[in-house]
Amino acid sequence: MVVPETELLKDAFSEFTKASDSIINYYHVLETQIRLLKEEVEKKNKELERAREYLENILNSIPLGIIVYDKNSVSFSNKTADKLNFETILDGANTKNEKAGLVRNGKGFYRWKKDMLQNGFRGKEVLIIEDVTEFEKMKERLERDERLKAMGEMAARIAHEIKNPLGSMELFLTMLLEGNIKSKEKKYAEYVRYGIQTIDRIINNILSYTRPKTLALREEKIGKMVEEILDFMRLSIESRNISVMCNIEYDGSLLFDPDMMKLVIMNFISNAIDAIKGKGQIRIDIKKDEKNIIIVIADNGCGMGKDIIKNIFNPFFTTKDKGVGLGLFIAHNIIQAHNGYIEVDSTEGMGTSFYIYLPKERKT
Ligand SMILES: Nc1ncnc2c1ncn2[C@@H]1O[C@H](COP(=O)(O)OP(=O)(O)OP(=O)(O)O)[C@@H](O)[C@H]1O
Ligand SMILES: [Mg+2]
Repeated sequence: MVVPETELLKDAFSEFTKASDSIINYYHVLETQIRLLKEEVEKKNKELERAREYLENILNSIPLGIIVYDKNSVSFSNKTADKLNFETILDGANTKNEKAGLVRNGKGFYRWKKDMLQNGFRGKEVLIIEDVTEFEKMKERLERDERLKAMGEMAARIAHEIKNPLGSMELFLTMLLEGNIKSKEKKYAEYVRYGIQTIDRIINNILSYTRPKTLALREEKIGKMVEEILDFMRLSIESRNISVMCNIEYDGSLLFDPDMMKLVIMNFISNAIDAIKGKGQIRIDIKKDEKNIIIVIADNGCGMGKDIIKNIFNPFFTTKDKGVGLGLFIAHNIIQAHNGYIEVDSTEGMGTSFYIYLPKERKT
């Protein structure tokens, strides 16, 4: 039997429709799968991004510098590394064959350690940097303190040997000055005496620095002590065109260590003399307020700027070619041991006033 052509076409069309329906169905299934896969990929990407942020946060919060680099460039550096300006440290580490070391640049000291990265990161290295500036500085300070201690012990021994002949020189010089000599020679002798007093003051400062001793308190009039010092130094000071005056408003007595306090006053007077270039004036006032006896030592010398003032009580701080830098440090320690304190008022080019406050309570 012959199937008419229309029937055949009908069947074929129905087959085609069935096939295209199933293709459409497949397409929908595929589309859904692709969408699901895309969502999955997006989710994984977000998770990866979070993991990266998490890792970066951890790397940025640790106090070590971390750098990943290869021959050509740096591919990662954490915040600490950036803050340390790691380039010079990286250069320093790369000039060495060692795996670890210490680099010093203008800013500080840095310990470093480097290693190759493994597993798919071949050719890349990681450098870890630790800022050890504070530690190294402390080490330097300790070493310096040790050296100073040894120096101090030696200086104390030498100082002791110098003090005896110095005492004799001063005694003979005083005898010479009391004798009948011409005014010109007298002036020269006064210069020598001032030199001897300066050496004696410096030696006493060194002895006091190296061997801090307990106070030997005595009740005395501080005004009388200051006047004695001035009598002793007046000619030396005045021969330098400097006038001195002392105004004793408070003349009572106080419990203090006279030898130590003498050293304090001599240190202040000597600084005032050094501060006056040419003609000038030193004025000492002794007064009191409700709580304290106040000694004011004022000069109209060169004065000090703020940068100098903040350092003057530090040991070995000096702006003088031949200064030791112990005078004010010792003075501060001695006054502190008397439960007192020192204030300074200074204007560059105008002069300086030091105020020594000693509590009256010590008075017996
Ligand atoms: N009256 C002053 N006028 C100006 N500057 C002063 C005065 N007194 C102190 N200074 C400054 O303070 C610094 C420290 O003084 P300090 O007496 O401690 O040491 P120094 O005088 O330099 O040496 P030395 O150990 O011989 O006393 C001085 O070098 C100086 O710069
Ligand atoms: Mg001094």
